[in-house]
Amino acid sequence: MARRLNMLPLLFLLVGQVLFAGTWPKVPVADPSRTAESFVAEGKKAMVVTAHPEASKAGLAILQAGGNAFDAAVAVSFAVSVVKPQSTGIGGGGFLVGYLAKNKQVKVYDFRERAPMAATETMFLDSKGEPKDYSHNGVTLKEASVNGHLAVGVPGLVKGLVDVQKKFGRLTLEKVMAPAIELAAKGFPVYKDLAEAIKEREDVLRAFPATQAIFFKDRQPLQEGALLVQSDLAETLRLIAKTAGKDFYTGSIAKKLVAEMQNGGGILTAEDLRSYKVEERQPVSGTYRGYRLISMPPPSSGGVHIVEIFNMLATRTFDKDHFHNADSVHYLAESMRRAYADRSAYLGDPAFFKVPLAGLLDKEYAARLARGIDTRFATPSSQVKPGKPALTESPSTTHFSVVDNEGNAVSSTQTVNYTFGSGVVAAGTGIILNDEMDDFSIKPGVPNAYGLVGSEANAVKARKTMLSSMSPSLVFNPKGELDMVVGSPGGSRIITAVLQTIQNRIDYNMDLESAVQAPRIHHQWLPDKLYYEPGAMEPRVLARLKEMGHDMQERDSHGDVQAIGRAPRGGWIGVSDRRHFGMPLGF
Ligand code: DON
Repeated sequence: MARRLNMLPLLFLLVGQVLFAGTWPKVPVADPSRTAESFVAEGKKAMVVTAHPEASKAGLAILQAGGNAFDAAVAVSFAVSVVKPQSTGIGGGGFLVGYLAKNKQVKVYDFRERAPMAATETMFLDSKGEPKDYSHNGVTLKEASVNGHLAVGVPGLVKGLVDVQKKFGRLTLEKVMAPAIELAAKGFPVYKDLAEAIKEREDVLRAFPATQAIFFKDRQPLQEGALLVQSDLAETLRLIAKTAGKDFYTGSIAKKLVAEMQNGGGILTAEDLRSYKVEERQPVSGTYRGYRLISMPPPSSGGVHIVEIFNMLATRTFDKDHFHNADSVHYLAESMRRAYADRSAYLGDPAFFKVPLAGLLDKEYAARLARGIDTRFATPSSQVKPGKPALTESPSTTHFSVVDNEGNAVSSTQTVNYTFGSGVVAAGTGIILNDEMDDFSIKPGVPNAYGLVGSEANAVKARKTMLSSMSPSLVFNPKGELDMVVGSPGGSRIITAVLQTIQNRIDYNMDLESAVQAPRIHHQWLPDKLYYEPGAMEPRVLARLKEMGHDMQERDSHGDVQAIGRAPRGGWIGVSDRRHFGMPLGF
């Protein structure tokens, strides 16, 4: 999302960090009408941080009604699906990393979309072997892996949430789904972010009558301030609550989803829905300067590469008084470059491709990679096929973090992939269907919507899970206490946004607010560019990095972090990223 950012040097002076002295840096701010304080909250007992105030309220209400972190997470997830349909929804999927304080156990669930059984390696290529468009019943849209029915992976969100609620929740599913049902039935005013998302995807949303019926009025995109009522979705949610999700996979909702697929030239079948399974996985874990990081394993690339980059960073120290000097930015970017190169070759669904997990997480391997970093010059990413520089940040995907009064925690990132997913609403259900199939590598070397390239490891195959960057994470301090709950959307930039938030705290001694709001950089190997947010570094640092051979490119807004941190004097601090519109609420 392109937004100019306001200068808020004052905030940082107040924060009192040495590194923020002077006129730098600028803080990326999406909504200048909101105060800096509204992005920070303190809670003695519990905390909910989500990307939308209504979703945060839903989570808080459930915690205050005696629910635990898992109840609140399920309530937040259904609610955020209703109020941020551009980002996530029950037609999508996600990951959840949970912490059970009593027995200090981490639980990881993968309820991401899977490729339908009829999916094939060449399904997104035309007869010439080039990426093909969506074309059905006279409707033609660019890029079939992003827009329209073929882009849809088998949705997993409902099964994931219902399973988690059943295993760990204390309240009933009806109770935790009530806020979402009310938001869908009564409606809420379209806010700036949503109005912009509808406008951005106008052509695709207009192409499908069931989608148009929800997000348009008199054939025009809904404007900011209009009331968005989603009656079909409310009914769908009621049925899910009543049948513990069964209706979605084998009942009347499933029938409507399949009918939509058949009418629109999709390949998803009743059997795909019936056989959907949530996977419980073992977390990826690593250490950094005495802290322990727990994050999402494959089919996410997130945890692996956060640990891999931290392992490279561990080979040197960072001067805590010099956040974003040329040396530190260079070393960080070079580490990111090497990790993303590995991502393109080695990461995919572990059920289909042997991911060399131990090798990638090995500290000695990272040290070897780090020895290849020239401290004076950028190493070009060149030899490899060039990626099309289509690195767009869409206002899609969402993360939320919850901690309850027993110290249980949930870190979860969920998505329909690109803004409004495939653009398809299954007629009669109000469900926006994902376009997660674009997260596969549709052809070696052809970049996806986030400019990421891949290979055989992430090729399309029937029933396979597409590679993700989503990185819901937990950080434990050297005493073994839960220290942070953190995650972000941002496509390929998820990994680097989460990494920098954690690094800011550990290496630069920032409090949580500064760690989240500080400007970010990003390198993903291809395209060979060092992206930075406006104000991320002083002009002389920028000039120096250019001299070192970096192709510097300014880009607004990297990610939308929703984080919780242990407060210095007990309790929790919640921080929402000022780059977007989230809100922390604690008590
Ligand atoms: O799973 C993934 O990595 C992507 N589908 C996430 C997309 C995303 O974060 C879009 N947000 N800006």
